[in-house]
Amino acid sequence: MAATRRFQTVKGMRDLLPGEAGAFAQVEQTARRVFSLYGYREVRTPVVEDTDLFVRGVGEGSEIVGKQMYTFDDKKGRSLTLRPEGTAAVARAYLQHDMSAWPQPVKVFYMGPYFRYERPQAGRYRQFSQIGAEVIGDPGPHSDVELLVMLLRFLSELGFEDLVVGLNSVGDPECRQRYSKRLRDYLEPHRDELGGDSLRRLETNPLRILDTKVPAERLLLEGAPRLREVLGDPARRHFEVVRGQLERFGVAYRIDDGLVRGLDYYTRTVFEITSGGLGAHDAILGGGRYDGLIGELGGPVVPGIGFAIGEDRLVDVLPASSPVRVDETTPVCVIGVGDAGLDVAPELAEELRASRVPAISESAIGTLKAGLRKAGRRGCRWIALIGEDELAAGTVVLRDFENSSQETIRRDEFVATVKARISA
Ligand code: HAM
Repeated sequence: MAATRRFQTVKGMRDLLPGEAGAFAQVEQTARRVFSLYGYREVRTPVVEDTDLFVRGVGEGSEIVGKQMYTFDDKKGRSLTLRPEGTAAVARAYLQHDMSAWPQPVKVFYMGPYFRYERPQAGRYRQFSQIGAEVIGDPGPHSDVELLVMLLRFLSELGFEDLVVGLNSVGDPECRQRYSKRLRDYLEPHRDELGGDSLRRLETNPLRILDTKVPAERLLLEGAPRLREVLGDPARRHFEVVRGQLERFGVAYRIDDGLVRGLDYYTRTVFEITSGGLGAHDAILGGGRYDGLIGELGGPVVPGIGFAIGEDRLVDVLPASSPVRVDETTPVCVIGVGDAGLDVAPELAEELRASRVPAISESAIGTLKAGLRKAGRRGCRWIALIGEDELAAGTVVLRDFENSSQETIRRDEFVATVKARISA
């Protein structure tokens, strides 16, 4: 007989168990609340899209399209891809639903699972969650600033302090063309110092070389011309306004000349936030402007800007002071003692829930001691006990595990008293 196979999650994918899943839900709730303050509305797009959407949108030369997509043919031979990112899908939805007829700019946010076939490591999964936002239809720099201010408000509500935004401008396509030539001219005499990847990029897309993690190449790049120095007037002015306004809002940023981002659609403002808690090059979020993307997808020229946060990484580095609790417990446990108590306990628990107090009821327990131990292991702080004596007297005993105290309360004041103790 064949041995029974023990199934495991697919490589690079993981289960989020109750504590972790609870933290994700709280982070998502915070995102919904904060983004709504700025007039953003949620969209949900499918997990699967036409492969060409990402090839055209994210770019054939990008790592994502070149190496990381989960692509398959459906039964009719159509090439489909599990979405590796959200911006191209939102741009597709903008065109498909004719959102240019809506009040502009259109501001949306989204959250959910994304897929990239990457080498799994800490903070890098093949299925991961993103929380993103996009503003489509406003070319002006004030949108860039509002988006970043919103992002930082969200992060500060999660308890993050002193975050610094890495900021750069990758300019307009003309600036990048000019710059690519300059960078190529600078690197050409140093060909023998470049590795295979960078040599290939020297031919196809020299800008990507700025992204290199090879120390010797990084050293070489220190003397390279800077993209910011060759920006045309419109892109330079845009960037100046963004910087000025960020200062006005007290947003801490650091200009990062090497920040070019790995997706092809970016123009002008780009940004990332990295966290010391993760690997050196692991950003908790990234984003930027993409004024050419919608045109690239066959639509009119409509500008956009957005970001996406890696939720898995964000939850990993939540500060100790974060209001997000990784392990949420139910505060109250109602224990019925003896047969009569066992019948009443579920009813008391239900009365609490009707008043929005989270409660569990322990049924079918052996002894009172075993019930108390169980409630303790579940992390309940308050235990409500009801047995023969209490039933006869019309009372409930309420124990506070944390203060090791106990009080007897009237049954008709039970819910009000528990509520008062919990919110004290
Ligand atoms: P991205 O930089 O490719 O940008 O991804 C955004 C964030 O997703 C990253 O900073 C990282 O935290 C997280 N992330 C990416 N890959 C993984 C992975 N394999 N495992 C865990 N987390 C990961 C975008 O996706 C753009 N769509 C952002 C954007 C929106 N730009 C404009 N609008």
